[in-house]
Amino acid sequence: MRTEPIVLGIETSCDETGVGIVRGHTLLADAIASSVDEHARFGGVVPEVASRAHLEAMVPTIERACDTAGIALRDVDAIAVTHGPGLAGALLVGVAAAKALALGLGKPIYGVNHLAAHVAVDQLEHGPLPEPCIAMLVSGGHSSLLRVEDVTVGVDPMGATIDDAAGEAFDKVARLLGLPFPGGPHIDRVARDGDSVHIDFPRGLSSRRDLERHRFDFSFSGLKTAVAHWVEAQERSGEPVPVHHVAASFQEAVCDILVRKALDAASSEGIDDLLIGGGVAANSRLRHLAEERATTLGIRVRVPRPGLCTDNGAMVAALGAEMVARGRTPSSLDLPADSSLPITSVLAG
Ligand code: KG4
Ligand code: ZN
Repeated sequence: MRTEPIVLGIETSCDETGVGIVRGHTLLADAIASSVDEHARFGGVVPEVASRAHLEAMVPTIERACDTAGIALRDVDAIAVTHGPGLAGALLVGVAAAKALALGLGKPIYGVNHLAAHVAVDQLEHGPLPEPCIAMLVSGGHSSLLRVEDVTVGVDPMGATIDDAAGEAFDKVARLLGLPFPGGPHIDRVARDGDSVHIDFPRGLSSRRDLERHRFDFSFSGLKTAVAHWVEAQERSGEPVPVHHVAASFQEAVCDILVRKALDAASSEGIDDLLIGGGVAANSRLRHLAEERATTLGIRVRVPRPGLCTDNGAMVAALGAEMVARGRTPSSLDLPADSSLPITSVLAG
């Protein structure tokens, strides 16, 4: 009987050392070591600290993943690794580890794009990807709308943020409200007790004039400034800042514009499937709003469970497994880490 190949995926583009193991579309292990606590007091990820933490965590995380999956390294059929985009030093650690494994085990290596991996991960939960689909990737570093024809070949960018990423906006506003880093999950939690229409914060790039040039682009820096001004005015007036209302109203502004533009992208392309990925896809309001509005348009929404939305190794393994399944040529062993890898480049040559 032919069994599907086992792929080990390594993710180190930011502050999570992720090692995932899959067999085809079946997730066998998803081991993560995070250095997030080491960055918290700086209010953002410090690249040097992240690289060092990856170095220390790599071997134990690989061992943990193999233990959980109940396999030995020699059972692995292929190695996949995020080779960009991300923090240069952090990526280097993952790429070097992947090369060492590929060389030592005599197995092929697939250098893959972090963003395409955020799309591919959904097949571990919901089965084969609907292709073509519209993917909205919203994370700490990116906010993009993509048309995905074949996730192993390429994706077409339709729009992106012109300033802050959605997750970055969550993190900055959380900081303003005195919530810990990373702020997204805290805003999500605090907003549950708040009123989302308490403050009417601006929706970026939504005026008729903006839509002519930036129909599928996002902007969150004006929103962030609007929140800062509102909080300052409140403090000046001597009134306490209603953190839960600010969080809920801010979250509503972000989710409203994300969902509006994603559904517009799907409708304009005549595509009935919308996939949402990246750390911000873990947001409960975003998931709810997307489902609610998509249903009325006959559009299906797929969002992986929160643990698969944030950075992890399983997503890299999932994309690697798809590369193997679709017979893509592996990368060469001199594949570079590329911090500014464009989204259109899915597999390293
Ligand atoms: O995809 P990810 O883990 O890393 C990047 O590639 O950036 O995304 C991390 C981002 C952070 O900005 C974090 O605040 C945000 O995702 N995030 C959330 C939630 N969980 C994580 N934002 C809003 N609501 C959440 N529940
Ligand atoms: Zn990510």
